Amino acid sequence: MIKRRTLVGASAATASFVGALFGGRKANAAKTKASGFAAADIEPRGSVGRLERLPTQHLEAQHDFITGFRTFANRDMTRAARKRIADIMRDKNMSPVDDLPIEEVLKHVGDDPLVAASARMWLSAQQINWTTLYEEFHGNADAYLAEMEAADNMGPGTLELNPDMEMPDYTKHEIHIQPGGYVGDDFAGHIYHYGTNNFFEGRNDQDELHIGLAGAVPEPTDGKVARILDQGCSSGQLSVALKQRFSDADVWGIDVGGPMVRYAHMRAVDIGVGVNFAQRLAEDSKFPDNHFDIVTNNIMFHEVSPEGTVEVLKESLRVLRPGGVFYPMDFYTGSGPGKGVYSSFRQWWDSRWNGEPWRLEYAKLGFEGFNQLMRDAGFEVNENGPPSGRRAKRNVVGIKPA
Ligand SMILES: C[S@@+](CC[C@H](N)C(=O)[O-])C[C@H]1O[C@@H](n2cnc3c(N)ncnc32)[C@H](O)[C@@H]1O
Repeated sequence: MIKRRTLVGASAATASFVGALFGGRKANAAKTKASGFAAADIEPRGSVGRLERLPTQHLEAQHDFITGFRTFANRDMTRAARKRIADIMRDKNMSPVDDLPIEEVLKHVGDDPLVAASARMWLSAQQINWTTLYEEFHGNADAYLAEMEAADNMGPGTLELNPDMEMPDYTKHEIHIQPGGYVGDDFAGHIYHYGTNNFFEGRNDQDELHIGLAGAVPEPTDGKVARILDQGCSSGQLSVALKQRFSDADVWGIDVGGPMVRYAHMRAVDIGVGVNFAQRLAEDSKFPDNHFDIVTNNIMFHEVSPEGTVEVLKESLRVLRPGGVFYPMDFYTGSGPGKGVYSSFRQWWDSRWNGEPWRLEYAKLGFEGFNQLMRDAGFEVNENGPPSGRRAKRNVVGIKPA
């Protein structure tokens, strides 16, 4: 078994060396404190078990670099590209905040080197991200599989795998160019968890973001929270944070990807939080009617086909008890990102190059469109629910009518 944590946890001297090397000692101790875990003086990233440190210094260094590169691409380069697009449009006496058809957007800004460089940097970071992780986990496949196998039947919490389950076609895609996607790779959970730590610019390695999201979830007005379902749970970060917030509740995390829930279970066992993880579909979850008090879904809908979205909403209503709360968190469940030429370009680009086939359809829905689908499914809709993310001012909440 690979004991990644002991690589740095064993000796204060090693930990101190690694902490100093990555410049993260103080920052990580502070982060650890902020996320509510005991902060040891010299704990480097991951050593409290939320995202274990990568196994080799080489890989850790690569990922520190990718995180920094990604952060630069997300912030400085995006700001520069956005400004360049606004300048180009103004030079042509056109408004940068108009919504134009993508063919026109590309005609105006598609050949600009700064805009192209910004997109290229983002994509290259993504490619290197997945490649390095894929090589690590597949290069040591036996050890990593043994580690998961050892945890499969351990508690707290349970794991249910359904390898013969029929998967909707839209779930088999190599989403955001992750090799094998969510369902086609034994290490999808590992790769996703480490890979998205870069996506979150390294600010979620102790589940800070998911702990924040769990804290935003509204309770039913009668205050009864005995059962919670987290749809599309991936590596289980939100499911675990929900269990920590609602410690008396029975929490389920479901995902179409077997490797996702397998990894989620191993991680939850490792940090001692009892969640039940199951490989099941959000649109056919097999739970009884009126079973849950709260259903959550974080950043799944922009990756689901329009038909799938309607089915997931129907199923969410079915499994909620009257008065139960549905709290979907995604780009447009809050009031949504800005419109205009830059956003159109970015969404098109994400869909075309980053393997996000449903992104444009989802963006077309917008905040109002998504809320209307919730009404059509039978929810009472509160468009001014508590915000789920730092950019949103509000988030839609669905209530199952009595
Ligand atoms: C972007 S990830 C969600 C991340 C996760 N909710 C979180 O908070 O970190 C989308 C997840 O939804 C899952 N998924 C997609 N379609 C699904 C479906 N129809 N039923 C269950 N899970 C699904 C994918 O396998 C993937 O793990």
